[in-house]
Amino acid sequence: MPSVTLIQHPLIQHKLTLMRQKDTSTAKFRQLLEEISMLLAYEVTRDLPLEKVAIETPMTTMDAPMLSGKKVVLISIMRAGQGILDGMLELMPSARVGHIGLYRNPKTHVPVEYYFKVPTDVNEREMLVVDPMLATGNSAVAAVYRLKETQPQSIKFVCLLAAPEGIAHFHEEHPDVPIFTAAIDERLDEHGYILPGLGDAGDRMFGTK
Ligand code: URA
Repeated sequence: MPSVTLIQHPLIQHKLTLMRQKDTSTAKFRQLLEEISMLLAYEVTRDLPLEKVAIETPMTTMDAPMLSGKKVVLISIMRAGQGILDGMLELMPSARVGHIGLYRNPKTHVPVEYYFKVPTDVNEREMLVVDPMLATGNSAVAAVYRLKETQPQSIKFVCLLAAPEGIAHFHEEHPDVPIFTAAIDERLDEHGYILPGLGDAGDRMFGTK
């Protein structure tokens, strides 16, 4: 069954409301996205496997839990994915990182790939694909098809806001990839933007509009 996890921690909801407000500055928007991304990372990595390792505390020895297996690989869908990536890297500084660049043809909304750089050894790694906005789902669907070619151990898709249309489209194509989001909004407008949404995440992060 396709899975969608709505992460509704009060801190996330509060910060998301601040991000949605049109008068929130670029600097504040970026800071909030980074903070929310840390909280999302905390939830999304809940099931990472642990193993016991022998350590010495100043008092005695013990078998203590540490993450086992290879490091997670974070994939940013450029350019807005960078905001989530930065926050997640604060929490998981050793994670491996990849980038995929897709732009949306403004008329057809069809994604066109312009950049792809992903670590070569992802086979035994969990892959977290991040993009703040799951709108039409076209970019996410295309990115995940491309990333599946690298054969990661598993894939999760993490966003901030999702439209019902984007979730449906994504799970038609990738029912095996769980979605984690902080909110599911009402719908898309005629340009493929999420309503009520927060506008263009890339423009708001980088101040390009
Ligand atoms: N991308 C955005 O940045 N915002 C939307 O509302 C939809 C896609």
